[in-house]
Amino acid sequence: MARGRFVSIEGGEGAGKSTQVRRLATTLAARGIEAIVTREPGGSEGAEAIRALLMQGAINRWSAHGETLLFAAARADHVEKVIQPALGIGRWVLCDRFIDSTRAYQGVAGGIDDAAILALHAFGSRGLLPDRTLVLDVPRAVGAARALARDGGAGDRFAVRGTVFHDDVAAAFRRFASAEPDRVRMIDAGRDVDTVTAALLAELADLLP
Ligand SMILES: Nc1ncnc2c1ncn2[C@@H]1O[C@H](COP(=O)(O)OP(=O)(O)O)[C@@H](O)[C@H]1O
Ligand SMILES: [Mg+2]
Repeated sequence: MARGRFVSIEGGEGAGKSTQVRRLATTLAARGIEAIVTREPGGSEGAEAIRALLMQGAINRWSAHGETLLFAAARADHVEKVIQPALGIGRWVLCDRFIDSTRAYQGVAGGIDDAAILALHAFGSRGLLPDRTLVLDVPRAVGAARALARDGGAGDRFAVRGTVFHDDVAAAFRRFASAEPDRVRMIDAGRDVDTVTAALLAELADLLP
């Protein structure tokens, strides 16, 4: 049986990741491709428990290093228990955030060395990388307005950081796309949902059976 494809959806707060990951699964299903939708941090029982530790509480609840280790631990469990088994039985896996979010948030915006993050990933998750990473790019103000309309300002430990932090995150994703153009694709997500879904599908064209 052919191994499934692994696709991560990345981008800042309110970019439309959760919306598009579901729509993409429906679109793929219509083409006869069975995909599971999952998310990070979380996606497995253990990783969802770690998610609560990471997303709730005071901004400075964790040291930068401790936080990076928790993300790596959650990801390791998620990869071993959910992602690899699904890929192994030929399912596609659509993941709402993955390693590039850690590289952008804890790395570029948070000051943790990228090589250290990748070393933890090599150990915890056998260095698994997506076949394709789709970055939803929206102007910060658009993402912030969408997130505000969605949850009325009750942001998690990362959403509530300042403009500089979020600008660093956005710049990091653009840098990753330049560095790995084959894997990482930027999508203009400021458009209507149908147009964005079509753009995402177009970026998967070469992976489709
Ligand atoms: N292309 C779009 N145009 C307008 N609103 C959108 C679009 N995509 C998503 N939204 C809305 O914006 C909000 C944030 O989307 P969501 O998918 O939760 O973003 P994320 O998961 O990236 O934080 C939701 O209320 C969603 O319905
Ligand atoms: Mg979301």
